[in-house]
Amino acid sequence: MKRIYFVLAFTAFGFNAFGQKTIDQKVSALLSKMTLEEKVGQLVQYSGFEYATGPQNSSSANVLNEIKQGKVGSMLNVAGAVETRKFQELALRSRLKIPLLFGQDVIHGYRTTFPVNLGQAASWDLKLIEKSERIAATEASAYGIHWTFAPMVDIARDPRWGRVMEGSGEDTYLGMQIGLARIRGFQGKGLGALDAIMACAKHFAAYGAAVGGRDYNSVDMSLRQLNETYLPPFKAAAEAGVATFMNSFNDINGIPATANRYILRDLLKGKWNYQGFVVSDWGSIGEMVPHGYAKDNKEAAEKALLAGSDMDMESRAYMAELPKLVQEGKVDPKLIDEAARRILIKKFEMGLFDDPYRFSNEKRQQEQTDNQENRKFGRVFGSKSIVLLKNEKNILPLSKSTKTVALIGPFGKETSANHGFWSVAFKDDHQRIVTQFDGIKNQLDKNSTLLYAKGCNADDQDRSMFAEAVETARKADVVIMTLGEGHAMSGEAKSRSNIHFSGVQEELLKEIEKTGKPVILMINAGRPLVFDWAADHVPAILYTWWLGTEAGNSIADVLFGTVNPGGKLPMTFPRTEGQIPVYYNHYNTGRPAKNNTDRNYVSAYIDLDNDPKFPFGYGLSYTQFKYADMNLSSANLKGSQTLKISVSVSNTGNYDGEEVVQLYIRDIFGKVVRPVKELKGFEKVFIKKGETKTVTFTLTPENLKFYDDQLNYDWEAGEFDIMVGTDSRNVQTKRINWLK
Ligand code: GLC
Repeated sequence: MKRIYFVLAFTAFGFNAFGQKTIDQKVSALLSKMTLEEKVGQLVQYSGFEYATGPQNSSSANVLNEIKQGKVGSMLNVAGAVETRKFQELALRSRLKIPLLFGQDVIHGYRTTFPVNLGQAASWDLKLIEKSERIAATEASAYGIHWTFAPMVDIARDPRWGRVMEGSGEDTYLGMQIGLARIRGFQGKGLGALDAIMACAKHFAAYGAAVGGRDYNSVDMSLRQLNETYLPPFKAAAEAGVATFMNSFNDINGIPATANRYILRDLLKGKWNYQGFVVSDWGSIGEMVPHGYAKDNKEAAEKALLAGSDMDMESRAYMAELPKLVQEGKVDPKLIDEAARRILIKKFEMGLFDDPYRFSNEKRQQEQTDNQENRKFGRVFGSKSIVLLKNEKNILPLSKSTKTVALIGPFGKETSANHGFWSVAFKDDHQRIVTQFDGIKNQLDKNSTLLYAKGCNADDQDRSMFAEAVETARKADVVIMTLGEGHAMSGEAKSRSNIHFSGVQEELLKEIEKTGKPVILMINAGRPLVFDWAADHVPAILYTWWLGTEAGNSIADVLFGTVNPGGKLPMTFPRTEGQIPVYYNHYNTGRPAKNNTDRNYVSAYIDLDNDPKFPFGYGLSYTQFKYADMNLSSANLKGSQTLKISVSVSNTGNYDGEEVVQLYIRDIFGKVVRPVKELKGFEKVFIKKGETKTVTFTLTPENLKFYDDQLNYDWEAGEFDIMVGTDSRNVQTKRINWLK
């Protein structure tokens, strides 16, 4: 008994059970020695000089001096064992020798690049996603990186927004599960482990709801919609212990996220009791001046800090203005202490005070420079991210002994484009990437022939290569077309008003189709594209996103059937831009269309069918899966009972394969209107040909909760449709009644 009091006494005075000072105690001791300028210095982050991931505004000279003077807390875009050591040595020359945090955008892999995140989401494979981030963290930490600005957990329903490529699509539940898997991957065994890096939930908040899908544009929505659709992945991340948050560029209902007290103080640091720190997005503090929310950087710095933005990335407002604001009594020095404390706690947790150079180790870096195991994983992950959209007459998989294959299109021999946007550009990438041409060539039989013609560029009006491409197609038994987006056509500041194939790609496809040769279309993109003509005329279509270092091998594995594709779309694919926003979990309205072509006084366009081109959750396989015997544990439930749902899935085709079984519900009536479907569960199952597996789900009232117009989060008694199926359109439904 005595021991417990002893421990309690120790803890009360800030010591742990072993009599050592707790981190909180160490931070308090350090803060007590720091000047106001040194404390503000911890709130400052600058970009390195190699490359900028935003409009650059820091000159190299004063940054290096400020580091030496202890006026910088973190650098981003500085990487490598040698480079990080150099900067850390500068920081250790400051009076209190407080080490720097090194941050970088480790978004979909590091030295080994993995599929763009929307492609990863198409795998619906949380284990693969978590493992990919574990690998990324191992590689990045070996390159001296302490902190990744990921996962991006922005829900996005508008494919015109270029940053859909780095998220998990339109669904809150799927996005939340994937975001948590990424955080587990990055932070691994916990901060302090040599292969763990701090994760960062971004962009807080609702950045994906920018009006018109135009990057950085305004967001205006009810707090109900904000809490119902856009905030849950962030709340889950905070509860899961994500080390940091990053706020977003957009204003939310007229107040920039960077100084939005509702999300930062009331929710994140208040209701959610978040203990990590918030970094602004690049320059977003200073951008409150053009937003028209601050008259100058001084007012911007005041508003951002008071609202709860702890660290200033690249706007230089904090260092320039906060000391003055404290001296003028406009900012309480306690708030500076609070922000600095949150940041210093992370530096202690990362072990940087014990050894500031522990991540800057050239030997470790060398071991992670070309890790073959990681490449093997990347190849598997790439193939699992591919979505089979069409396969008429089972033209796929191709035989490896096909006599002559023609690969035609602007991406067949692409190298670094396979990385997609947000990949760290390493100088040797060109040699390390497996191109689509090489991947296919590696797997074709020796006496088969692989022809190649570029046919056109990704995004211009040059038709001069058409003739050669048509000629090449004529010589082949089968043509593989590779069309889509160049890697810089999706990503930050890459919103597109027209998401059809760019340039003359579709014209090239039509010319090739006229040859009468069987055509397989591969679409490489970071987002859903509109390809109505191709979808109606080409017999086989694979959505191959941008798959990273092993792209060519991943693609060939699927083309030749080594891997049976099992990907499912994490976003709805519209028929045309005019249909946007179109997403599966919409409300029913008072005049829902009765079918795809109903236009009679219903919510529809008079010039377009109502269904999207491909629905959320859609994806085919080389085999066929038959759903039967959907069973519920009860059709009438009460209170906190659990509903068990089971369904048997049979593989009735000729290939073993994976199927993502999806569970949706519909709350038939509510105190606010409710979506026609809500994803509440999914299970990816491997089923051998001829086999049957039973998949089970459970639901409790917790899964039925929603925000009402007063922001109460609860569930209501009533009728619910329970649905299971292979995508959000093709489901079996049973109705239940659930009383409180
Ligand atoms: C960029 C992005 C953000 C990224 C940051 C640092 O502007 O919006 O996602 O992490 O700057 O590169």
